[in-house]
Amino acid sequence: MSRLFEPVALGDLHLANRVVMAPMTRSRAGSRGQPLPMTARYYAQRAAAGLIVTEGVFPSPDGQGYPATPGVCTDEQVAAWREVADAVHAAGGRIVMQLMHCGRAALRENQAADAEVIAPSAIACRTPLYGPNGVQRPCSVPRALRTEEIARVVQEYRDAALNAVAAGMDGVELHAASGYLPMQFLSTNTNLREDAYGGSRENRCRFVWEVMQAMGEAIGHGRVGIRINPGSDYNDMADEAPAATYATLLQGLSGRGFAYVHLIHRPPAALDTLMLTRAYWSGPVIVNDELDAARADAFITAGKAEAASFGRPFIANPDLVARFASGAPLASPDRATLYGGGERGYTDYSEFEAP
Ligand SMILES: Cc1cc2nc3c(=O)[nH]c(=O)nc-3n(C[C@H](O)[C@H](O)[C@H](O)COP(=O)(O)O)c2cc1C
Repeated sequence: MSRLFEPVALGDLHLANRVVMAPMTRSRAGSRGQPLPMTARYYAQRAAAGLIVTEGVFPSPDGQGYPATPGVCTDEQVAAWREVADAVHAAGGRIVMQLMHCGRAALRENQAADAEVIAPSAIACRTPLYGPNGVQRPCSVPRALRTEEIARVVQEYRDAALNAVAAGMDGVELHAASGYLPMQFLSTNTNLREDAYGGSRENRCRFVWEVMQAMGEAIGHGRVGIRINPGSDYNDMADEAPAATYATLLQGLSGRGFAYVHLIHRPPAALDTLMLTRAYWSGPVIVNDELDAARADAFITAGKAEAASFGRPFIANPDLVARFASGAPLASPDRATLYGGGERGYTDYSEFEAP
């Protein structure tokens, strides 16, 4: 019997099984950044996961980088997320909101009129992004945050965490991976600051520590997780010494009661990020590694992780947990409907039916 089906506690989050739905941006939010009713249906269909991590949600309008992504700032957005959380809970599931501030990995034209592309330093991301018209463009050149502004950004995350809980979410996950704002503070190529938030490893970790602490104080540390992928070059990241950066980061977070580290385990060849995480973080680990059920079970059985997350498999298999349990074949997602559009390729994947 696979260990995937055993219950587990990640901080204050009590999961019925260890199959986690990984966060996936689907770019189907309404024009004011509110999730639409189909999003409640989409997540409720997948509520048999031990835990759902929502798509990346912007904590402030400056944090939006892509078209049609949702926020959790306005009353309307919070009310719409309540529909999502209620639908998942009614179906017996657990759900945390991923807070994703894109920082420099953004296009100005994807943001609201009064928003701004900001980052630790004024260095543009060289990855092109899709604009509202579906055409790829170079990222906007960000404005470097002034030292005295950083407390406001931390506060925005804290308010977003409170809003997520007000919407009925079971917790939040800080997106500190994939080259977004928190990782831009961590990485040596995007953080050239000379104040207390740049330079030494401790200084580059300070922003993430402060955000995690502020959110933990607001909603309880046991309801706050963090997603990392040490050493990744996604979104034009290039840390000179990721092992040292993440050892420092994790040491500063360990032992403080946070719910989990969600590790994207796709490291450069020279770095075993699971070993690194186990060495410097004493709490629960969710591993994400383009997994299938057997490899996920092997990580858990070997004591390398407490749970495993699956992204693309959950898109086309709303009943993924049942398929894993029965050994039923998995359907493949339609790539053309990953981002944007309506119910097609979103809520219309069916449960497995034996032929
Ligand atoms: C359509 C799509 C959207 C994604 N959006 C996010 C996101 O918003 N936040 C995030 O942390 N990761 C995001 N990811 C990465 C996934 O969470 C996951 O790490 C990745 O798909 C690898 O896992 P898998 O092989 O099980 O799909 C996205 C992946 C896909 C395919």
